[in-house]
Amino acid sequence: MINSMYGKSLLDLTELTKAEFLSIIELAIAVKKKPEDYKGALSGKILAMIFEKNSTRTRVSFEAGIIQLGGQAIVLDSKNTQMGRGEPVKDTAKVMSGYVDAIMIRTYSDQMVAELAEEATIPVINGLTDNHHPCQILADFQTIYELKGKLEGIKLAYVGDGNNMAHSFLIGGSLVGMDVAIAAPKGYEPKSEFIDIALKNAEESGSKIDITNDPAAAVKDADILITDVWASMGDEGEQAERAEAFKSFQINNRLAVLAKKDYNFLHCLPAHRGEEVTTDIIDGAHSAIYQEAENRLHAQKALMLKVMKE
Ligand code: CP
Ligand code: NVA
Repeated sequence: MINSMYGKSLLDLTELTKAEFLSIIELAIAVKKKPEDYKGALSGKILAMIFEKNSTRTRVSFEAGIIQLGGQAIVLDSKNTQMGRGEPVKDTAKVMSGYVDAIMIRTYSDQMVAELAEEATIPVINGLTDNHHPCQILADFQTIYELKGKLEGIKLAYVGDGNNMAHSFLIGGSLVGMDVAIAAPKGYEPKSEFIDIALKNAEESGSKIDITNDPAAAVKDADILITDVWASMGDEGEQAERAEAFKSFQINNRLAVLAKKDYNFLHCLPAHRGEEVTTDIIDGAHSAIYQEAENRLHAQKALMLKVMKE
């Protein structure tokens, strides 16, 4: 049965129960194994995609995914729509609900996406906002499951900016019982509201949550090492000061040696080699970045099947 989540939006991972989250990963693995079984499952369905920030993976994996499922995508650059001229979110939501079956949006404001979902009568999927990147976590956790055979009890160490990725790892990891250690420079830690959500989830799941300014402490005995760019989309103006603040938050051989011997390295991409990670790590034997990127396709096909198929 794949339709118990039919009609649901995914703004951030707090909206999923552990069972729902795991069922998406399970379906993603099934879709990856036998894509032909799902061909035509979303026949006649249309996904609108709105982009206010750049994208390669999200754009192509969602579009390829809906096509493979028998549906179609309409890609909108918000600058060329009336949204870009200030049309109210409410009107956009109501109007688009009459044309398409789901909306995927990549933008800045989480509040705007929440309003879009509130006013729309169709599912709204967050394809990255300033605070969240839930679709990336679905793909990442699928990848971790493939690599390690489990999610619960895995130690994930994220070294870098307390950004949308860090928030999503905190919420997703604490939901499924993963230990999440985040090392960020002072002043760049994840927002306290998302740490609080993780701590609350952890009471139930048994996860250990550790927020530190010490990369070595975070990485110690980790199964999975992760980082992300030092300046996310929207923060590019702070590149120079961030490069200074983050210079000891690079994943390199000196740090990776503290992780478990069979650790894997992940990165949502795009990456800046020589900044947040060295070339020998990201292109080395422990890296699974291309498997991770491919899983965006399978995980999002699973998500679309869950929320778009009756
Ligand atoms: N990881 C990710 O979301 O990539 P894009 O920015 O290319 O979509
Ligand atoms: N944290 C990055 C992720 C890009 C996929 C950003 O928001 O730009």
